Amino acid sequence: MTIISPSILSADFANLERDIKAVNTADWLHIDVMDGHFVPNITIGVPVVVSIRKITDMPLDVHLMIENPEKYIEAFVKAGADIITFHYEAVQDVSAVIKQIKSFGVKAGMSIKPKTPADVVFPYLNELDMVLVMTVEPGFGGQKFMQDCAEKIPAIRQKAHENLIIQVDGGINAETARICTFYGANSLVAGNYIYKSSDIKSAIASLR
Ligand code: DX5
Ligand code: ZN
Repeated sequence: MTIISPSILSADFANLERDIKAVNTADWLHIDVMDGHFVPNITIGVPVVVSIRKITDMPLDVHLMIENPEKYIEAFVKAGADIITFHYEAVQDVSAVIKQIKSFGVKAGMSIKPKTPADVVFPYLNELDMVLVMTVEPGFGGQKFMQDCAEKIPAIRQKAHENLIIQVDGGINAETARICTFYGANSLVAGNYIYKSSDIKSAIASLR
């Protein structure tokens, strides 16, 4: 089964409840947290996640594109996150951050940016629930899919335990989704493809 996680970065934030309910046939809800330091954009913080938690039962897939993620993990768990993904490039002690996330009983994910090689994740695969392979430079929705990033997936899949989720994020549509699942991804994030579609439910179905 492929886990579809619509990214609300492409939703209308003035109509967020409507736009979250519109994707309720998907599996998770992807929430992009950006701090203006790790990436050149500022998006969603803890109070918004608290409000989202009240209006949906979908698992909240929180993608932290922030420096010093360890300072904010507890707050995002209390806000209602079910999966917390941090960036390899943003932390010093990877194992400590994974342990911290798992100590709260939520799933731990680690992401790598396009220029980060796949092998940096190998030492941590047994501790992780998910690896997020970015297929665009993090920071903005609506960018073009980078196929060479997806080509990192087979090496990770080959070394991974059988329950590891490999997620891709950036430029995912029905066509690039097929490339990623062929390489071994089993979770797809999509923002623009889902939210800019005239038929959201069909767009979600087309990714499966
Ligand atoms: C980019 C974010 C993505 C973004 C994807 O930094 O992590 O989740 O919303 O948007 P699309 O699917 O439009 O490329
Ligand atoms: Zn994301």
